[in-house]
Amino acid sequence: MSPALEAVKAALTLFEFTVDDAARATYGHDESDMGDFLPDLIVFPRDTAQVKAVIDVCRQQGVPLTPVAGRSGKSGGSLPVQGGVSMSLERLNRVLAFNPADLTITVEPGVLLKDLQATVEAKGLFYPPDPNSAEWCTLGGNVAENAGGPRALKYGVTRDYVLGLEWVTPAGEVLKVGKQTMKGVAGYDLVGLFVGSEGTLGVATAITLKLLPLPRAVMTALLPFASVTDAAAAVSQVLLEGLLPRCLELLDDVAIAAIADRFPFPAGCGACIIAEVDGGSTEGVFAELTRLSEVASRCGALDTLLAQDRDQREKLWAARRLVSPSLRAVKKFKFSEDIVVPRSRVPEAIARFKQVGRELDLTVATYGHAGDGNLHTNVLYAGPHERPRVDQALARIMEITVELGGTITGEHGVGIAKKRFLSLELSPAVMNCQRNLKVFFDPQVLFNPGKIFPER
Ligand code: LAC
Ligand code: ZN
Repeated sequence: MSPALEAVKAALTLFEFTVDDAARATYGHDESDMGDFLPDLIVFPRDTAQVKAVIDVCRQQGVPLTPVAGRSGKSGGSLPVQGGVSMSLERLNRVLAFNPADLTITVEPGVLLKDLQATVEAKGLFYPPDPNSAEWCTLGGNVAENAGGPRALKYGVTRDYVLGLEWVTPAGEVLKVGKQTMKGVAGYDLVGLFVGSEGTLGVATAITLKLLPLPRAVMTALLPFASVTDAAAAVSQVLLEGLLPRCLELLDDVAIAAIADRFPFPAGCGACIIAEVDGGSTEGVFAELTRLSEVASRCGALDTLLAQDRDQREKLWAARRLVSPSLRAVKKFKFSEDIVVPRSRVPEAIARFKQVGRELDLTVATYGHAGDGNLHTNVLYAGPHERPRVDQALARIMEITVELGGTITGEHGVGIAKKRFLSLELSPAVMNCQRNLKVFFDPQVLFNPGKIFPER
């Protein structure tokens, strides 16, 4: 350990921390497939004062500090790429205030999303954003990455629900920003800046969220199609006809094949849509789903298989959650993108990504939140010998996305995974403005270093 790290370690003796090799390996890995980056030390603060103390000592000693919690991230945002200290927020896991009458809740960053959901739903309330990892992702991570998920189509993303924050900056200032009310426009929107800043501007130690009434009726259906082209066209048509389901998820042939032994897709199903509709009454929701089914059927849907109860609905979503891990079983490695294109361009985007796969002799799977235009295009590969072609494919996918008017990342963040593509989307002036913001908050560039911005 360097003298600076020894000094940090000495200063943290009153805190819970570990330098254990197994823990370092655990905290050096996430869901991004970006490799392993081991921290030298992991510290587990329990409150805001301890978070501030850790930030202060690391800054004073010039040691890199990276916040981490559930490690469900897909862009490497919590990986300590320069070593140093990883600060796990998992023990800040209390509900600080729950105000059902105000439809708000304030939580610490280490609260698991599934626990938040259970707490608010018990009172008939609803927190819609869910990036498909509620069992193990934390609210702090959701805020850092501005997590989205299937329900964003109707309900928006994490940023749409964060009203206020307690935010410890890399300089060690404890700021209370935002509001506790539904509206509030006093000054710049620092909450909007912090949410989605990928843990590069400091740590949120308290998060106040807006809640909604829990919809009284929800229905979910599986709509099989012969081809992904038909399914993608149906997604566009449903929206064009004025329907707004809460989820319109699409699975292509590769995604379906990956989970076919775990879910009974009907014969001839080469692609599918999972549609979910919610509202105030069963009759209203059923009528909405019936209209959706008619539109889809005109676009080539082979059937509409309505989940009959909560259990069947859960089975459908369990299948959807299996797609990402199951694709890894098809080939050993994969890169999972989260590009977004304007919704009318989804069919073209999918066709062109498949074409890239054919040209480079790689399997490309596309699934995800097609209703948002947000596609999880996955490039699968068997081993390092294929990496040069994989890198070419990823670059082509990003270029096509930006050419279609889209963005390189809709929900997973830039992290380290998409740094090299950021300049496709941001002009030099915008990139410079963003770098200046980072340096304003973190002049020594020690806080979650090496993320978002490409090396100069
Ligand atoms: C999903 C994650 C990968 O939607 O974003 O499954
Ligand atoms: Zn997603």
